[in-house]
Amino acid sequence: MRRKLIAGNWKMNGLTQDGVALAKGLSDLYRTLTKPSFDMFIAPPFTLLSKVVETAKESGIWVGGQDCSMYDSGAHTGDVSPVMLKDLGCGGVIVGHSERRADHGETNDIVKAKAEAALKAGLGVIICVGETLAEREAGKTLDVVGSQIKGSVPEGAKAGHVVIAYEPVWAIGTGKTPTTDDVQEVHAFMRQKLAGLLGEETAQQMQLLYGGSVKPSNAKELLSLPDVDGALVGGASLKVDDFWAIASTQLSA
Ligand code: PGA
Repeated sequence: MRRKLIAGNWKMNGLTQDGVALAKGLSDLYRTLTKPSFDMFIAPPFTLLSKVVETAKESGIWVGGQDCSMYDSGAHTGDVSPVMLKDLGCGGVIVGHSERRADHGETNDIVKAKAEAALKAGLGVIICVGETLAEREAGKTLDVVGSQIKGSVPEGAKAGHVVIAYEPVWAIGTGKTPTTDDVQEVHAFMRQKLAGLLGEETAQQMQLLYGGSVKPSNAKELLSLPDVDGALVGGASLKVDDFWAIASTQLSA
């Protein structure tokens, strides 16, 4: 039985006051669950990480970065290494988000190197994949997702350390989502692909998240699909009520 993971990607949003209030609101709510039936992860911008780690301390919420360097240290101006994230008290990091792939030219090789560096530093890693609208319309969704998985997931990746998030680029921040049949089709395909790369047992245990316009009104439906093990939420993770409403769909699940 795979545990559900509700992950929030704050992107480049939040100044100190808002970020701390958001982390505090979520921590207070998550703490009220005596035996949470799902995990929660939040990824604030680098500038807020230290304060959010402090605020969420002992709440059980997992805090992490939205990206990291593939290097541990050195002459890489502006970059933040996974070792630094670990040192700060982070539990994980997102790599290969489509905004990183598009805005920063991150290739599968780069994403894989970042994932490897993060795992070496002792962080959990959420690796993002997903097709563009043009790729979907050309019927290439499974090809694209398959090759991103093959190219971005480190060899020997283990469930519990690596999570894969399927985020169709055209669904991010647009209010559009694929049909539940389409989401399930891609997730089942990803699991099959992972079985070929990592073995059946690992593939069965690995958490696969869906991301792209997840909100309180569609979370229950998406999260009840057989191969969807959680959500990676952008916009709706910026408000305590919305993010908690998404997470709460798992309370009675
Ligand atoms: P969204 O973003 O929920 O705002 O669509 C999801 C993501 O980019 O991770």
